Parts: sequence; structure tokens; C-alpha cells
Amino acid sequence: MAHNDVSVEMILQHLGEEDHILGAVVPPIFQNSLFVHETCNVVGEAYAGACANKETYFYSRMGNPTLHLAEQKIAALERTERCKLFGSGMGAISAAILSSVESGCHVVGIDSLYGPTRRFIEQYLAKFGVTSTFVSGSCSDSLLDAIRPETKLIVLESPSSLVFELQDLRRITGVAREKGIRTMIDNTYSAGILMQPHTLGVDLVVHSATKYFGGHSDIVAGAVCGSSDLINPILTQEYELIGGALAPFPAWLLIRGLRTLKVRLQAHQELANQVAAFLAEQPEVERVLHVSQPDFGQRQLYLSQMHGSGGLFSFIPRDQNPTKIRAFVDQLQVFQRGVSWGGFESLALSLDFASEHWQHGHHLVRLYCGLESAEDLIGDLRQALPELS
Ligand SMILES: Cc1ncc(COP(=O)(O)O)c(C=O)c1O
Repeated sequence: MAHNDVSVEMILQHLGEEDHILGAVVPPIFQNSLFVHETCNVVGEAYAGACANKETYFYSRMGNPTLHLAEQKIAALERTERCKLFGSGMGAISAAILSSVESGCHVVGIDSLYGPTRRFIEQYLAKFGVTSTFVSGSCSDSLLDAIRPETKLIVLESPSSLVFELQDLRRITGVAREKGIRTMIDNTYSAGILMQPHTLGVDLVVHSATKYFGGHSDIVAGAVCGSSDLINPILTQEYELIGGALAPFPAWLLIRGLRTLKVRLQAHQELANQVAAFLAEQPEVERVLHVSQPDFGQRQLYLSQMHGSGGLFSFIPRDQNPTKIRAFVDQLQVFQRGVSWGGFESLALSLDFASEHWQHGHHLVRLYCGLESAEDLIGDLRQALPELS
């Protein structure tokens, strides 16, 4: 089935599930490490098939039918040929990066990248002679100016998950392709629903499946999507050798999470829009950093690349006293204090961000709007706002 012809709903509910095993409407979990075969030759063939990312199984570190089902759905959502699931988002991200670099090469990344991704490139890969430059993602010129003859990879996250800066994916990938540089994006924010970066030219699309894909704050998982040409080598190198495979049970929970992905994202988005609109009116708030707000600085780019905005955004309190900001977050009763997002529960964090582009540092509050009601969330913010005055 060509993925382009299949609706998101059909992908999430039915793709890969045409044969119901024993009539079971919910696919069973293949909760096993091992697959045995008639002869040694067939075991060898199964290994070769698994390496070529075919549906043959011999050992769950390389492939498992439960994972394969989730992988098919995520690949189809992202309009890519292949997807491989990992034991965490960072497992997927580090494997994708490792497959794209070599000693002596250079990586360009945006300066508001998810922190551990930036540390992996900037600090960990430095041990192996990989250099890197981080620049504002919202300025394509500075990003493209950072390219050197030895640049092999550009790492993007659009929007980034703290200050929500977008990158012009068509322009960046166009130049990268001309120069033979691979591009990779963390698309966790858009969850394969709000944007399909591969259709805008990005080579590798990575996810923390812990977030919206899982959707219930009960699994840790990651995904790498791309063409077979790029994913198959990851399978026989980083996947097989570093060994970060996801276990079958969380993959099964992931399939269950995917069923409701589209409706959940719509609900998060409606809720976050109402909460952002409320905050934008409050005297204690200097600016709301929400991609779909009418005054969002990159609105045209947002409209040209994305189909929606989800539940995550930040705001800059007018009073930048960090003690007051923490007191505000601590005063919240419905929003809980926590780092992740993408689940049913609303979350708040007080965070600092500084970069050249932002001229000076800012203390921000990042909010994730879960599946509570707008009245409950706005009421909660209203009772805590006096802490910011
Ligand atoms: C944008 C983004 N990318 C990647 C990750 C890493 O994912 P995981 O925690 O599943 O390893 C996170 C986790 O918070 C994230 O927010």
C-alpha cells in the first residue's frame, strides 16, 4: 500500500493489521527474545532478511513483529520508507547521529536543540574528533553560513521545544542536498501529524516516542525514520552493535497509544490555544512563545510548513525574578511539575534560556496542556499568577 494514499486514521487503526491472528482485533504481543527455524540455513536467511529490514525474525534485538507493526505505522505517518524503534528517544537520536558522522567531520546544529542531543554532539562526539557549531535555527543565513567543507550533518528541531523557533526546512534541506550534507530533525513536537519533514526534504526524522506517540506517560521509546538506504545501515551498525532495541511490551503500548494520536493532538491543541490566549492577555506575562499565536514572529513559515501546534508552549514572565517564577510554578495545583510532555497530564517547568540570537538570557515557564478542561487549567493559572507580580 503506498503510504501517500492512506489517511492518517487508516494508518493508526489498520495499517499492518490486515491479517487478524485468530480473529483478535488487538494484535497480540510477541513477548519473546527468540525465533527458531527448521534448519540452520533458514536461521541464516532470517538474519539476512532482518538485516535488510524484511519481515523475518530470528532474535528480538534485531527485529520483532510487535515492533514491526508500530514501525510500519510511524514510517507511514512520516511518509518515509522505513522506521526503526529504539529503547528511548536518545537511543534513536544518538544512533541516527552516529550513523551520519565520522572522525574529523563537522556538525551544524540549532542552538536551542533538546539539551542532551546538543551535549551528545558537542561534548560526547568531540572525544572522537567530531567538531560542531550551534547557531540560531530561526536565521537560515547563519545556519547555512556555519557550513564548512567538512560538514556532514545538520541537526534541526522545528519548532524547538523550549523557545519554539522554527527552521525554514525547504531552504535548509535544498542547500544541504546540493552540498551532499545529510539533514536530521527531531520531530517529536509534531508527532508525524503536524508536520512531515521528509516531504520537505529532511533525510532522517527522529522522535522521542515517549511523548505524543506513547501518549500516556507509561513508556520510554524512540524512533528513527528515513529512506531504506539510510535506515538499513543503521540496522546493521548502530542498532545491532550498540543494541538499543525497544522491548515488545512497550512497543505494544505504543501501538495502543498511536490509536488515539490524532484525536489527542487535536484536543491538546485546542486546550493550549485557549490557555495561551488567556496568558497573552495577562499583565504579568511579557510574551507567549506559541507557534500558532497571531503575533508569533515566524507565522508565515509556520503556516507554510505545519498543520497545527499541539499542547506545548512557553511564556516569558514580565518580572524576571527567578524566585518569583519558581514560586508561581510551585503554586500550580492542576499543572504538575515535570520534565516530559505528550501524556494526559498538564505539566509546568521553570527554565532558563540564553543564546546569541536572544541577546540575553530569559527565565521562561514552559507549559504542556494535557487533557484536562480549559476551565481547570485557566483557573489554576489565575490563582497562581499573583506570585509573578
Ligand atoms: C524534544 C525532545 N527530543 C528528544 C527527547 C529524548 O527522548 P527520550 O527521553 O525518550 O530519550 C526529549 C525528551 O524529553 C525531547 O523533549
